[in-house]
Amino acid sequence: MKLLVVTASVRENRVGGIIGDWTTEFATNHAGFDEVESVDLRELNLPVFNEPNHPMAQDYKYDHTKKWSAIVDSADAIIFVLPEYNFFAPGSLVNAIDYLTKEWAYKPAGLVSYGGASGGMRSAQSIKPLLNTVKVVPMSESVSFHMVNNYIDGEQVRADKMHDESAAAMLDEMVRWTKALTSLR
Ligand SMILES: Cc1cc2nc3c(=O)[nH]c(=O)nc-3n(C[C@H](O)[C@H](O)[C@H](O)COP(=O)(O)O)c2cc1C
Repeated sequence: MKLLVVTASVRENRVGGIIGDWTTEFATNHAGFDEVESVDLRELNLPVFNEPNHPMAQDYKYDHTKKWSAIVDSADAIIFVLPEYNFFAPGSLVNAIDYLTKEWAYKPAGLVSYGGASGGMRSAQSIKPLLNTVKVVPMSESVSFHMVNNYIDGEQVRADKMHDESAAAMLDEMVRWTKALTSLR
């Protein structure tokens, strides 16, 4: 079983990369998945959705879409690491999800959100209808970093017990759902 960790923020000076690295390391140490791969939407650099055909046809014109398709297709489960912008999920993540359809289907998703006082929880809630539409199953167990800068020390995350416990609970649940959804795929 392969887990993909997607870092959604594409900003310069973002904290998302640091949270994404922490998530990848935590998931690797958790060892519920045989393989953990990470992908950074900033490096992937997808343009605003520009494919001429509906992704359902998987008749992709552009190399950036073919590359993204292969990455998501190879995963059995996905964790999205997402900030909150204006009480909502970042446009970069909505855009990346819109690029594909079948590649997402019947895979569980974990959400690691961060932001100010809300810990990105509104962002996490806002992305769920879109995930449901492409047949991704979002876990109710999740991780949220409230006042995220308080947990950043240089290039490291100083997670507390609550983050570790919620991340472990989310990954445990993802393993169960991944096994169950394999038969649907
Ligand atoms: C355009 C914009 C909107 C934001 N809106 C919110 C918000 O609604 N709620 C919140 O908690 N933080 C908000 N923030 C603060 C971000 O959560 C914080 O800057 C965080 O570091 C962004 O993640 P990133 O650095 O990985 O891009 C906003 C930041 C920006 C740049």
